[in-house]
Amino acid sequence: MKNILITGGAGFIGSHVVRLFLNTYPEYTIYNLDKLTYAGNLENLKDIQNHNNYHFLKEDICDFNRMKVLFKEYKISDVIHLAAESHVDRSIEDPFSFAQTNVMGTLSLLQAAKEYWDRDFSNHLFYHVSTDEVYGSLGAEGFFTEETAYDPHSPYSASKASSDHFVRAFADTYGLPTVISNCSNNYGSYQFPEKLIPLFINNIVNNKPLPVYGKGENVRDWLFVNDHARAIDVIFHKGKLGETYNIGGFNEWKNIDLIKVIIKTVDRLLGREEGTSDKLITYVTDRAGHDLRYAIDSTKLKNELGWQPSLQFEEGIEKTVKWYLENQEWMTNVTSGDYQAYYQKMYSN
Ligand code: NAD
Ligand code: TYD
Repeated sequence: MKNILITGGAGFIGSHVVRLFLNTYPEYTIYNLDKLTYAGNLENLKDIQNHNNYHFLKEDICDFNRMKVLFKEYKISDVIHLAAESHVDRSIEDPFSFAQTNVMGTLSLLQAAKEYWDRDFSNHLFYHVSTDEVYGSLGAEGFFTEETAYDPHSPYSASKASSDHFVRAFADTYGLPTVISNCSNNYGSYQFPEKLIPLFINNIVNNKPLPVYGKGENVRDWLFVNDHARAIDVIFHKGKLGETYNIGGFNEWKNIDLIKVIIKTVDRLLGREEGTSDKLITYVTDRAGHDLRYAIDSTKLKNELGWQPSLQFEEGIEKTVKWYLENQEWMTNVTSGDYQAYYQKMYSN
């Protein structure tokens, strides 16, 4: 029996984690705490919203007094913390909200957990979900390991790095039982279409330009979101306290090569002649401080906890494109309202 607080469960990765835990562990009660920012969407959880062991709490992690009340009220035994501002481009526009949510929000949860668990830390866990972006940028060679020194470059990665440091500080100073994982770029269903893959699928469907930053030569390491959720499950249950685990599938793609795969797949599934949408590729001004390459070494997770990705990239991208094509209503719903203004502002050049 556990009462697990999952923060950010209405977002992209969080919704997959909530679903996986509810479907796998009938003995757990899941409290999904989410502020429902533009990135949080209860449509992501429609299929499980009436599950007996599921409760949704519309709350802000930065509200420390509320967090204290909720830990007590729901007798929270464990935390899986995913709530965050997560988009690099937005962090360049508005760094304050990233420091507020990612740093102060994490601190508020850590302190609430510490106070509620009150030094009796047995059978509790604070699991902090983080990103490989805290390690900075690689050149052409090498991988990020758990020992790589932090070197964040964007306000987003700086705020995530800071939150990781606070988690470790709570473990070292107060003995809080913590674990951290740092994952590479995720792709899959329910991702908000400001991130590369869903944005480009949507633009190809609608014959809109595909804004490629710089020369399209930056490299990202892509992992299917369900595999990230499986890794979180394994680390939550078997991870060693105080440890860090890198999560990735050794699947690096240069942006422009990935974009060509997406174009090909969408065109084929829409019955368009191959190459029809190549003309949509539009090179635009590079992102400020754009990290060149991310690549995760997840050997520790494989060797110590036995996790590895469940599917090949070709299969994952096919499933993903199909999902977006079959769920255009979801896309329409999440891209109404503020999204239009955001898109105009970001891509007007
Ligand atoms: P997302 O932006 O899709 O979802 C974030 C969720 O957090 C949303 O539901 C939002 O409403 C909620 N939220 C934001 N501020 C909040 C607040 N103050 N209080 C409560 N809820 C709030 O993000 P995602 O891509 O699902 O990422 C989830 C986590 O995983 C983040 O911590 C991110 O740093 C990390 N991560 C993401 C990736 C990736 O590729 N997307 C890779 C590695 C790690
Ligand atoms: P993104 O999905 O924003 O993830 P992150 O910046 O966290 O890695 O971007 C993935 C890559 O795609 C990154 O190198 C930036 C690039 N990109 C574009 O070229 N055009 C776009 O419109 C977007 C959103 C991203």
